[in-house]
Parts: sequence; structure tokens; C-alpha cells
Amino acid sequence: MNSRGHLEIGGCDALELAKTYGTPVYVIDETAVRDRCRSYLRAFRSNWPRVDVAYASKAFLVGEMVRLATEEGLSLDVVSAGELRLALWAGAPPSKITFHGNYKTREDIDLAVRSRVRSLVIDCSDEIDLIDRRARDLGHVQDVDIRLNLGIDIHADPKYTTGSLESKFGLRVRGGDAAAAVAKVLERDNLRLRGLHFHLGAQVLDTKYHRQALHDVGEFIRAVAPVSSWKPESITAGGGMGVNYDGASSPPSPGEWARDLLPVFSEQVAPHCAPDVVFGVEPGRSVIAEAGTTLYTVGPTKRSGTRRLVAVDGGLSDNPRPIMYQSVHNVVLPSNPELRDAELHEVTIFGRHCETDKLIDRVRLPDLPPGEVLAVQCTGAYTHSMFNQHNRFDKPPVVFVSDGRSRLVVRREQFSDTILTEMQSTAAGSSDRHGEK
Ligand SMILES: Cc1ncc(COP(=O)(O)O)c(C=O)c1O
Repeated sequence: MNSRGHLEIGGCDALELAKTYGTPVYVIDETAVRDRCRSYLRAFRSNWPRVDVAYASKAFLVGEMVRLATEEGLSLDVVSAGELRLALWAGAPPSKITFHGNYKTREDIDLAVRSRVRSLVIDCSDEIDLIDRRARDLGHVQDVDIRLNLGIDIHADPKYTTGSLESKFGLRVRGGDAAAAVAKVLERDNLRLRGLHFHLGAQVLDTKYHRQALHDVGEFIRAVAPVSSWKPESITAGGGMGVNYDGASSPPSPGEWARDLLPVFSEQVAPHCAPDVVFGVEPGRSVIAEAGTTLYTVGPTKRSGTRRLVAVDGGLSDNPRPIMYQSVHNVVLPSNPELRDAELHEVTIFGRHCETDKLIDRVRLPDLPPGEVLAVQCTGAYTHSMFNQHNRFDKPPVVFVSDGRSRLVVRREQFSDTILTEMQSTAAGSSDRHGEK
């Protein structure tokens, strides 16, 4: 809060940000992101000598975020040719990019291998042939990892779970697919098997599942070692580290993750690996979520009994998470963050889409006249990157703030940006019809 009694983000007055950039607007506290990157590196490095922290770019991907993560010493995880192109455009070194995905298209594989990314993470047996063939055509030996499906359920919403036996991701350890993949990769001349990877799911609030996974990885290596004599140079424990969405939960800190995971790794996994084995993690959400705030402008209010139903000028398009995941975000009134002396009512906040796009359910707030600004917190992850064009709203701008200064990183999308592809198609279609190609 500043001397005017307003909410501050990165030292900037939230109401001034709303006035300058319009609403909705994604505001990212740059110092908070940098601190988080540093905490991850510090925490893991102080528990193991060789550590790789990769920012999972799917959480929030703009060029400036790539530059920031790279400057802070993080590497990058991408999952499509599009994400890879953006990372390369922003200057990320290919030697620090890992390429994931449960269905890598030929285009994905071609771009990843041509770009000489650090590794492609094998997610199914067929990929082994495709990547090997492309590497051979290019006269290259490509490093790969194998993503293990360890059959671990994180006991969360199924949409959050990616490491259970029902999940579409990874090669199953149970049943032998993963061991078969290790053997298959080791036979290929144009592939080099670097390491093993797993990713259990999202918004994990207890380290016990990752500890179990590391224990199981140790067993897997012990089981395949007599057959292959291969020793992993890298073990990556994925991302999924949970965040404090509602302002009231206390997820493990990077330090707690490191303190809980690395003893299991060093005792049960590292002894079966190459002597200089690297321990990797891939946090996405927990790097960026809490640093993000979305500012909205309040529109009309309706009453339902004693409850107020308040509409804001965004919703499902800029934050599909409440509808997709029933996620709960904390909301703050920037003009009066402490709500002193205010009479409070139970309020439900909706967006302005032609859906029941409930953004915040039942929160106690004062009367919200049209034009009031609302700040929805912990919106840095999977909001901008999951933006959709429902009802053709413009994609909100991205503003970075730090030390009391703000800068526009991505301007607000305009109608002319989104209609261009259709205009060009119509023009091309009409010249095709006239035989003018
Ligand atoms: C392979 C992999 N690594 C890391 C992440 C990042 O997860 P989170 O943002 O929950 O940390 C994901 C998310 O889908 C993933 O699939």
C-alpha cells in the first residue's frame, strides 16, 4: 500500500497502472520473478553441486520473460515449434532448451533437431524413430531423455494429474515400455541417451509424491542397468510446485522442495548414475504465478438476495482457470486494499463473456461502483498463455513493473491483429478462384 492508501505492485500505484495501460491488464512484478528464479537456483545448488533449473515456458511465454529467465541463469522447457521459435527469437541459447510434448509433429522434431536443442524428451516409442531419422538426415547426434510414467497419483483434480497410469504422458515403467525405450534409444547411432525425466502434475502442495518418484526412478535404473550398463547423466523431476492462489495456503518454498528431494536423490538415485549426474527441475507456475496480477474495471452490479453479482471487463478469455480448474484467486480492491471502515457484502465476480464465467466466488467486498478497479492476484501462470478468443475480446497487454517503474512489454492486441489471417485468406481465396495465383 502506498501513501495514498492504494495497492502497489512493484512499487507502482495499481490505479495509475490501470489508467495508463487500460484494463484488463496483466501486471508482472519483475523483482518477484527474479527473486523466485534466484531462490530456486540457490536452494537446489546448496543441496547438490550440479543443478539445472528450467523455466517451464508454457506457464507464461513472452520474449521478455525468456530474456529474464535466461539472464537469471535458468534454462527453458518448451513443448512446441511455436514455443521454441519464440524462445529462440528472444535469444535463449538452444543449448539450454529442452523440448517436451506427448505428440511432437514432424515440424516440431525438425525445428528442434535443426536448432540443436539440448535435448528432446521422448514421450512414446514412435518418436525414437522419427528423431533418429531426422538427426541422421542432418548428420547430427541428438541428445534425448526419456519421460517415465511412474504410475504416481498426486490425488488432485484429474486435470492436474500427469504422472498416473491413466495419464497420456510418458512411457510406463510398469509393463516395460520405459525399459524397452531405453534399449531402443541405445541402439540408435544418431541418438544419445542423456537422462530420465518425470513430471507428476500441477499445483502439488506436498513433496511426498516427488520423493516417492525419485525412489522409483532409483529402482528403475537399477532394473535396467544390468541389461544396458547405461548410466544417466541427468535426472529431471519436472515441475508442478504449487503456489498460494487464495492468499491463505502455504505451499513448500523452493528451499523446502530442495531440502526434501535432494537427500532422496543423492541416496537412492545418484549412486546408480554417471558420476557427474545433474539434478533438474522445471518449475513454471511457481516461478511466475504469484508475481502476476490482473487489473479489471468493474461494470454493472446486480443483486441476488443479499448477494451482489458484479461484472468486470474480462473473464474467461484472459483467465480460463476458474472455469477449467475451479481455481480460487485472491481479489483486492486497489483503491482500498485494507477495506478499513467499509461496509462489506458478499460478492461474486463474473466476466463479460457469453458464458457463466465466474471469476471469483463469494468474496466480501464493499459496494463496487462502475469504474472501480479490481486486482485479481496470483494470475501470472496459465492465464496469458491460455488466452482464448471467445467473443473476440482483445488480448490484454503485459506490463512489467519494478522499483516504481512500469514498462509495456506486449501491447494490447487489436482487432486488426486478429483479422489479418482471415483477410489474407479471403484475398488468397479470391485470387485462386480467378486463376490469378
Ligand atoms: C514436462 C513439464 N515440465 C514442467 C511443467 C510445469 O509445470 P508447473 O507450471 O505446474 O510447474 C509442465 C507443465 O505442464 C510439464 O508438462
